[in-house]
Amino acid sequence: MKKIIYVFTFFILGIVALNAQEKTNKIIVNTDLGEETINKNIYGHFAEHLGNCIYGGFWVGEESAIPNTRGIRNDVIEALKEIAPPVIRWPGGCFADYYHWKDGIGSRDKRPAMINSSWGGVTEDNSFGTHEFLDLCELLSAEPYLCINVGSGTVQEARDWVEYINSDNISPMTNLRKKNGREKPWNVKYWAVGNESWGCGGNMTPDYYADLYKRFSTFLMSGKLYRIASGGIDNDFNWTETILKKTQKYQHLIDGYSYHYYTVFPEWNNKGSATDFAEKEWFGTMQKTLAMESSLKTHIALMDEYDPKNNIGLIADEWGNWFNVEPETNPGFLYQQNTLRDAVTAALNLNIFNNHAKRVKMANIAQTINVLQAMLLTKDNQIVKTPTYYVFKMYKVHQNSTLLPLNISCEDYELDGIKLPGVSVSASKDAAGAVHISLANINPNKAVNIEIDLRGITSIADVKGEIITSPNMNDYNDFGISEKVNVSSFNDFDLNENNIEINVPSKSVITLEVK
Ligand code: AHR
Repeated sequence: MKKIIYVFTFFILGIVALNAQEKTNKIIVNTDLGEETINKNIYGHFAEHLGNCIYGGFWVGEESAIPNTRGIRNDVIEALKEIAPPVIRWPGGCFADYYHWKDGIGSRDKRPAMINSSWGGVTEDNSFGTHEFLDLCELLSAEPYLCINVGSGTVQEARDWVEYINSDNISPMTNLRKKNGREKPWNVKYWAVGNESWGCGGNMTPDYYADLYKRFSTFLMSGKLYRIASGGIDNDFNWTETILKKTQKYQHLIDGYSYHYYTVFPEWNNKGSATDFAEKEWFGTMQKTLAMESSLKTHIALMDEYDPKNNIGLIADEWGNWFNVEPETNPGFLYQQNTLRDAVTAALNLNIFNNHAKRVKMANIAQTINVLQAMLLTKDNQIVKTPTYYVFKMYKVHQNSTLLPLNISCEDYELDGIKLPGVSVSASKDAAGAVHISLANINPNKAVNIEIDLRGITSIADVKGEIITSPNMNDYNDFGISEKVNVSSFNDFDLNENNIEINVPSKSVITLEVK
């Protein structure tokens, strides 16, 4: 009898152990249950008059020896077209709240200069203005997203800008636009009313800003506008609640609410190097990036409370890694290199935004060229595509696809007693029915074997994979050498009827396409 009890106990323990093992490293993707669309604008960009983002990045001028189209670099246009930028935010950032748009129109040699006081105190000659930016957006088939000067501008100036850009009627502003060479309006939809109004945008209190927001947005009238209120930063829930409360009776004036979250490790006054780091900094950057999700969820919970019908979109219009500037570069120019670590954290951020697509309607990584977590770096006539660029290229399949609900259980990545979920994932189904599953393994030392169970698919016909990884966690692409971090094809997976067993290498980002 005792023997039978022993055998039975071992049998039960065996099943429990098996179940425990089964629970680890498994993803269930519900391919037939998607409801939300991943707004393509989640893959948006941000271009500020800061350092060499605009000048030397996008703009070299028509007279430049660098090949250009009406002053905009051809290599940049070509590279960005490959990642299909859906929307670009301009002219700032902090710059927006001291930018006077009328200084940036008309004949370039007559435009007044100004000092770019937040960013290096350099002279801004205003050669890149409204027409040049909107031309850039047309060349890239991207939607423009303009940020209005609330900090040092007037309601009239803001109203004139909207009329100049969007009106088809006869008026002094539309006549001026026509005189400056543009007959038809551009019909810009996205307008932010100030930027970081709690800080560089005017150091306002949320109460004061909420009133100002209503005043400005009341008079922005030409065309069907999507008006976005300035949010607080990171975990400033009081700012969010105040703005939502005070605009609740005026929901016809507010369409979006902005949210900024920068990944900084260990802290703002002690940021690390973009390239020279060890596992401690790798881990800290992953941890800070993942922490965005709980902050985002709390903002969303407040929005659900004040806007239960989900009319107001959360617009994450500044996000990304912020490291120390590269040695011997202007500290006000925020020029940083970009490694495999940036690729992995970009994937984490984009997975988070995808998975909250019900509320997150736009996100704009900071910034497109030569500033912070950039897509591209330029030096004279050379250009570098960063690891982050390749994540945007790989992830563009999610733009306007249907978000697929999923569950994941996976082993932790642990350092110094702190545990993080080792794998991040999001999945979507495109209009042609192809399912895309994007995974990031944040562990720099260990591959993870995962079973992906595809509920709702009876028989998988074909799977293709792409991967971004590199031998070292701080590998990066640089001028004059062949690329170290790029996208390559990936096939380390086994296919069963409706599941896939995949070996996700350490420190890698993968997208599978399942048909
Ligand atoms: O992206 C750089 C700066 O960060 C922006 O100008 C500002 O909005 C934020 O603080």
